[in-house]
Order: sequence, then structure tokens, then C-alpha cells
Amino acid sequence: MRISRTASDDPLALDADLLVVPVADPAATLTGPAAAVDAALGGLVARCAADGEVEATAGSLTVLHARGEIAAPRVAVVGVGGGGVEDWRDAGRAAGRAAERLKAGRVVLAAGDADAARVTAAVTGVAQGEYRFDRYRTGEAGDRPRVAELTVVTGAADDEAIARAARLATALGATRELVDAPSNDLTPTALAARAQRLAEDTPGLECTVLDRDDLERLGAGALLGVARGSAEPPRMIVLRYTPPGSRDGGPVLGLVGKAVTFDTGGISIKPSGGMEEMKMDMAGGAAVVEGTGLIAASGVPLPVVAVVPATENMPSGTATKPGDVLRAMSGTTIEVTNTDAEGRLILADALTYAHRECGVTHMVDFATLTGAIVVALGEVYAGLFGSDDAWTERVRAAGERAGEICWPMPMHPRYRPLIESKIADLSNSSPKRQAGAVYAAQFLREFTGGLPWCHVDVAGTAMVDGRGTGFGTGLVLELAEDLAARG
Ligand code: BES
Ligand code: MN
Ligand code: MN
Repeated sequence: MRISRTASDDPLALDADLLVVPVADPAATLTGPAAAVDAALGGLVARCAADGEVEATAGSLTVLHARGEIAAPRVAVVGVGGGGVEDWRDAGRAAGRAAERLKAGRVVLAAGDADAARVTAAVTGVAQGEYRFDRYRTGEAGDRPRVAELTVVTGAADDEAIARAARLATALGATRELVDAPSNDLTPTALAARAQRLAEDTPGLECTVLDRDDLERLGAGALLGVARGSAEPPRMIVLRYTPPGSRDGGPVLGLVGKAVTFDTGGISIKPSGGMEEMKMDMAGGAAVVEGTGLIAASGVPLPVVAVVPATENMPSGTATKPGDVLRAMSGTTIEVTNTDAEGRLILADALTYAHRECGVTHMVDFATLTGAIVVALGEVYAGLFGSDDAWTERVRAAGERAGEICWPMPMHPRYRPLIESKIADLSNSSPKRQAGAVYAAQFLREFTGGLPWCHVDVAGTAMVDGRGTGFGTGLVLELAEDLAARG
């Protein structure tokens, strides 16, 4: 999808297959482009609003036909609710879905006086709405036309803001493709190959992939312990972005992402119903890989190191068994009381590697870590945990700006006893069925070397209705821009 901008003050005159106009709450009071369309169509939008057909609810959409009064044959009136960034994202999504359904190749979005953050959310929303994953369909369904062109009419967002939104839309799409890809194709090796290709294509970005031998030399016993059950070899993917002219001494952002390319649970095997969704257990890693590529492609003046531990979690004759003890890269011993709590194991080694070997000053990890966070927060908020209040607030605010929203969760020291083991330094799951997401975060904290660190549990937000969302990709860009600007 080509994305461009025009400052034209008459979006109604622009030639397109579909004109999209936003309606804010209350729908009875039309303003900006919606009011202009209403006037051109003889009050049709207002009548539809009075009848309750046009609504302001974020993402609600009504298609109206024009008969030559405006240049486009159709108008999509789309609700932006209270006008939050996520509301504009929802509106964009609805418009993208409608454009795809109506086979509208050229779409004009009349953004009125919405600011750059809202325009960005709408643009990435359109890209997300028209996204399809039909690489695996044969025949006609596999080559339906896509939305070719999106023109945004905006005075508030400049060319650079639109170029940024376009890069973000591309990266979000790439993250989603990885999340949606089936695990027989998206193996740890394939994910590493994707990271390597990204590095080849992006100036300033370098990729190193650690294989089983490297991991053995490093003593990465927690990651290797999870990988033992699988025929697919594990990888630790390291992406380093060095901006031009960067000097030592400033902040270095460390991004860590869980990439379990399929999670069966291992010997503590999961129930079969819905297990196919566990191809998404690499969503944190995907967001970190594509997000780092995006930061580099955007030329954000901040060094970034991404560390992505990648493996399958499988049961087999060589798999780690409940009760086994692993020695992590940090030297800490871990009693594996549940092999399905594998994410925290591979992250333990990745966090250790990031703070010991990569010179990072601030860390954030993204992981589809617990079912408990899905119970607590559903698919709306990701769970946010941190060791440093100021850093946690910056991560939260970055998510807010990106429309990838995170809810702060507690890290009280009185949760710490949950991670104790009867025989080793730590255990990876507690017999108490309590505070499951907090437990996991407490465990991760042990491996952060005292650096400002946050953990974002994206188990509920990375996949919605069986489809990847790209969650985290926009947050890391916002966070890197903020750290570059304010240190
Ligand atoms: N990958 C899962 C968590 C998950 C659940 C992600 C639902 C997405 C949707 C994780 O590895 C897991 O299995 N966690 C266990 C931990 C438990 C055994 C302590 C869980 O949450 O049940
Ligand atoms: Mn698991
Ligand atoms: Mn998992």
C-alpha cells in the first residue's frame, strides 16, 4: 500500500474509490470533513446519525453512496468515539476492512484537524484492516487485489509524520506475518534468517545468530533445557543497531523478546483444544525483531540491541522433565516444576546475555508469558511489570502514544517467596495457583542485573481472534524515540 499525504482543503474533490470521514462523539454534531460530506449529500449523514445508523462508537462504519456530488463514488463514515489514539486505530481498521471488502484500490482519508499521533494510528489501522494472510491459499482467494493507495488529507501531520506512519505500518505488517506464520515454516532457524535479511537490508543494523554450540559455550542451560525436546535447533538472535556517529556513554536500549515458535507445553503438555494458537508464542520476539528493524530504518539516534531466544517447546524422549534442574547462564539453578512455564526460562538466559554481553543500560522484554494475564486484562491491555518506577512509566507512556496500551501490575517483594524452590535457587512454577503473571515477572527480575527493566506480558494482546496484532512494534519505536530525545 502506497501512503501519501496532501494538504488539499477539499477532500471531497479528490478522485478515489472510497472517501473515509471520521465522526466523533456525539454523532449528532458533525464537524470537519463529515460536515462537508453531509452538506454535499444534502444532509444524508445527519439523517443517518439521527436514525442511529451512523454512530460515533470507535470502529463503527457506514458506507454511503454518492451520485456525483463528490468525486468518490462511496463514502465510509467511521466512528472515532472519544478520540483516543486507539479509537483512531479502530476507525482506521474498520476503514481498511471496508476498503478491502469493497475492492477500493484508492482510498482517501480526510483526517480533519486530528494530530499526528491520531493520523498515524488511523494510517496503521487502515493497513491492519486491509491486511490478509493468504499466503497459504491457492487459486483466486490467494490473489485478490489489495488497497493500492492511501492518501491522507491532513494539515496537522507533515510529510515526515506520514513517512513514519508508513514505515510503522510496514513493520506492523511484518510482525503480524511472523505471528500468523505456521510453526512448520516459522522455525527458530527461519526467524533467525528473517532477522539476518532485515540486517542486510537496513543500514546500521547487524545480526549475529548464536547456535547450539555457542549457547553451550555460554552456559545457556535454561534455553538449552527448553530446546532439548525438539528436533528443531534453538537460536539466540542478536540484532544490533548503531546509529551513524553514535558515541559511547549514552543510553543503550536492550529489547528482549520471547520466541517460542511452538509451545506444546513440553512434558507438562497442554490440552489439545486450541493448541494451534500456540504458534503465536513467538509474538514478543517478532515485535522486537521488526521493531528494531523499524528503529534502524527510521534512523532514530539511539543504539539498540535486541536479543531474541528462539526455540520450540516439545515433549520427547530427550525433553526436560518436571523436577529436572537447569543451570542458567547467570549460574542460577532452576527447578523446572512445570515444563509449560518455558518462556521465563529462555528469557532468563536472554536477559542475562543482554545485560552481561551487550552493554545495554535499559531493558524491556516482550513475551506471551502467562494465561493469567489474559484472565486479568483480556485482549485490551498488556500487563506491565518493572523494577524502576520512572522507567516503567516511560514504557507505559510509550505504549499509550502508540495505542499499544499497558496496565501497570504490582511487583511487591511479598510476591517473591512464590519463586522459591525446595531444592534449587528458584523454581519456574508455583504450586499455589496465585498471581501467575506476577510470579513470572518476579522470576524474570532475578536475571536483570539490577538494570532498569520492564516486562510486558502480551499473551492477551498479541493475537486477537486467531490473528496476530503486531503489538509491541509501535511501542518500541516510541520508546526509542523518547530515550533518544530525553536520555
Ligand atoms: N505461552 C504460554 C502462555 C500463553 C497462554 C500465551 C495463553 C498465550 C495465550 C506460556 O508458555 C504458558 O504455558 N504459561 C503457563 C505457565 C504456567 C504453567 C505456570 C500458563 O500461563 O498457564
Ligand atoms: Mn508454556
Ligand atoms: Mn509459552
